[in-house]
Amino acid sequence: MTTAPAAMQLATASPEATRNLGARLAAVARPGDLICLWGDLGAGKTVFAKGFGAGLGVEATILSPSFVLMGEYAGRLPLFHIDLYRLASAEEALEGGLLDDRQAEGVVLVEWPDRLGAAIPPVRLDVRIEGGGDDPRRIRMEAHGAGLERYLGAVASEDPESAGVAS
Ligand SMILES: Nc1ncnc2c1ncn2[C@@H]1O[C@H](COP(=O)(O)OP(=O)(O)OP(=O)(O)O)[C@@H](O)[C@H]1O
Ligand SMILES: [Mg+2]
Repeated sequence: MTTAPAAMQLATASPEATRNLGARLAAVARPGDLICLWGDLGAGKTVFAKGFGAGLGVEATILSPSFVLMGEYAGRLPLFHIDLYRLASAEEALEGGLLDDRQAEGVVLVEWPDRLGAAIPPVRLDVRIEGGGDDPRRIRMEAHGAGLERYLGAVASEDPESAGVAS
């Protein structure tokens, strides 16, 4: 029997709030964690990734990895930022070097994880961002698999004002 994933939802009223959410989550990151960032073009996946990187102490500028498949950054843990937008299939993603032994030592963020289809790893944190333009974003986080609830705890235990947590 599978249990429902632990989940929580909040809203961010600005890019800074989305960034702050990413940074706060990074505080509890552990080696081998996978975070899938779901959402349409312009939803804020890369904004979240930049904040996550800042929270890991990455000093380099995190760019949208659309043209390179994967960006790798040094921080408290190595950060691997992957964008599958241009890929047509999971096979192409895997051939393109999506999986890499070094990733077990760091944190992997994946934009456009739907490209993986059934090959998506079952143990992961899903971050689903809805909304566009200057509208507030609704962000739902779902922990799939043991241990990943710690990300939800990291948000729940903080001052809600700083991330615009919805009531
Ligand atoms: N509350 C918000 N949270 C995040 N981004 C916001 C918010 N409000 C406005 N924005 C703007 O939305 C845009 C999000 O762009 P971003 O590159 O992060 O999207 P993306 O989801 O990575 O898209 P793509 O699929 O093209 O990679 C930025 O220009 C950002 O300033
Ligand atoms: Mg992006």
